[in-house]
Parts: sequence; C-alpha cells; structure tokens
Amino acid sequence: MLPIKPVPAERLPELLRRMPKAELHMHIEGSLEPEQMFALAQRNGLSVPYADVAALRRAYVFNNLQEFLDIYHAGTLVLRTEQDFYDMAWAYLVRAAADNVLHTEIFFDTQTHTGHGLSAEVVINGLHRACVDAQAQLGISAVLILCFLRHLSEAEAFEALEQALPLRDKLVGVGLASSELGHPPEKFARVFAKARALGFRLVAHAGEEGPPAYIWSALDVLKVERIDHGVQALRDPALVARLVHERIPLTVCPLSNLKLRVFSSLTEHNLGRMLEAGLVATVNSDDPAYFGGYINENFTQTFAALGLTARHAYQLARNSFAASFIDASARRAYHDRLDEVFETFE
Ligand code: HPA
Ligand code: ZN
Repeated sequence: MLPIKPVPAERLPELLRRMPKAELHMHIEGSLEPEQMFALAQRNGLSVPYADVAALRRAYVFNNLQEFLDIYHAGTLVLRTEQDFYDMAWAYLVRAAADNVLHTEIFFDTQTHTGHGLSAEVVINGLHRACVDAQAQLGISAVLILCFLRHLSEAEAFEALEQALPLRDKLVGVGLASSELGHPPEKFARVFAKARALGFRLVAHAGEEGPPAYIWSALDVLKVERIDHGVQALRDPALVARLVHERIPLTVCPLSNLKLRVFSSLTEHNLGRMLEAGLVATVNSDDPAYFGGYINENFTQTFAALGLTARHAYQLARNSFAASFIDASARRAYHDRLDEVFETFE
C-alpha cells in the first residue's frame, strides 16, 4: 500500500471527489429522481399520485426498509418502455461519471416490471444499451446484476432467471434484494445454485436489518462472493473473523442506513470500525434519489461524521476495485489511476 500523506479535513471533500472509485451497490430504480419520474409519467400518459416534485420529495421519510420499498415500488410504475430504462440508467451513469466512478455494477430487477406487464427484454435491453454507451461516451464501465425479490417465491425467482437467460450475455451476476426480515437466504438456495452453475457471479443483501445468521447463510448456502450492506456483521465476532480471513467484501451504504434508521445518526455508523477490523468494506449509494445523495455525498457526509482520513479514503477506493467483478488487468489499471491521484494530490 502507498504511503498516504495526511490531508487537512477541509481538503478531504476534494480528495474524495477526485478519487477514482467503483460503485457496487446501487439499484437503478432507486436512481429515478422525482423530476425524471414526472417526465416519464407525462411521456407515458400516466400520473404520479403527488402534486409536484416537492410534494413527492417530502414523502421520502422512512422508518424502516419496508416503508421505503413501498414508495420505491410505486415509483417504478412510470417505467413502461425500453427507452425509459435507457434514460433512467443514462442519467445515473452521467451522475456517476461526475463523481469519478470508473466502474459500476448496477442492480436492477425484472420481477417488479414483469409484474406491471413489461417483458424482461425491455428492461434488460434498455439498461444494457445505456451501459454500452457509457463506455463509449463517458469512459466508464458498467455491468448489470439481476436481483431476485426475496419477498416473492422461489418459483418466481426461477421464472425471472429463466426469462433472463436469452439475455445472459448482458448480465454479470445475480443478487437478492427487497424485504429482508422473514425472508432468509435459504429460501433461494436452489435458484442461486442454478445461477452459479450457469456462471453468474453471486451477491446478496444480508445483514442490513437482518441478523448475522443471514450473512452466514448467504455465504454458506447461497455461496455469494460479496455481501450487500452486512453492517450487522459486527454483532458476531466469529463472522467478522471469517469475513476478514476470506476477504469477503461488504458493500456498505451509509446514507441508506441513516434514512432507513439502521443507525440513528451517521456518527453512530460502524464504517470506521469495519475498516479498523480489517473488513473489505466499500461505500455506495443504494438508492440515491431516495436517500439523499450519490456516492460522493455518501463519502463526504460519512467522513465528516466519523472523522475518517485520507488513509481511509484510499482503503475504501482500493477495496471498491478489489471487490469488483473485473479482470486483473482492469483492476491494475484502476489501482494505478487511484495511486496517481493520491500521489499528486496537494
Ligand atoms: N435493501 C433491500 N432491497 C432494496 C434496497 C435495500 O437497501 N434498495 C432497493 N431494494
Ligand atoms: Zn440495496
């Protein structure tokens, strides 16, 4: 690891902005800003059940994950065409590039949209076309991870996987999202086994609101390579030891945790303790349109609240590339760009 020069607190936001990074936990439907939601509704001849953008934003107050998921699901009703999915993803990718995100692994689901009468192809083709254009026009790499919705049945997850298979080449992996409590990873053991046999990379949300036991079973039963959130891991020292030893990355989303009341304030967040424990933690935005900020906002607010330093910034950015589903040569190139920014930052 590079020797990291101390950076005064007032210069940290600039370093965090300039720092190359990967984003590994962002649900594309959660990047749909109220302005774009109203615009898509109008284009599709639909209405949004709020008077205006300000009224919609005022509704974004949540006591837990489920309260968020209910509003989030209502927001997806404006998405009707392939172009809608393209436009939503493109808006996120432009925003991510402005935050110096060099690589992003985007979560999406098809079950929400097939439930509204759309086909999986409309969803995947629209998102994938935006990823292709991002590489060409923004110089950032973007790949797609299909999330199964855990509040739905195993049979419905199998159906979603089946529908995605003709578009297999447009996906890198599968994940598991939605209501965690009461829906342990074990419910999806067989569909993850099938996805694994098909060569998909595997991740799952675990330990956001749910207990450490869900993280254990995501690893042992689903055989995931990364844990999304995972902030409850610190309640279980044996689990922490395993995550450190096996270098299992955790995709932490501080502003999401704050808005969904996983922590009562950012000063209570355990990101600093995770890094001190040697966990491969990363910082991500989860649902930036709903939780008050994109990835750099997550970095700057969390660093200010916890008093984190340039050394932590470097570690988190390095972790983000280490945790990415990219090949070794791309990883080396990203690490070199990261080192260059830290070496030349004054
Ligand atoms: N947790 C679970 N499911 C989700 C989330 C989350 O934070 N965001 C979007 N779907
Ligand atoms: Zn999430």
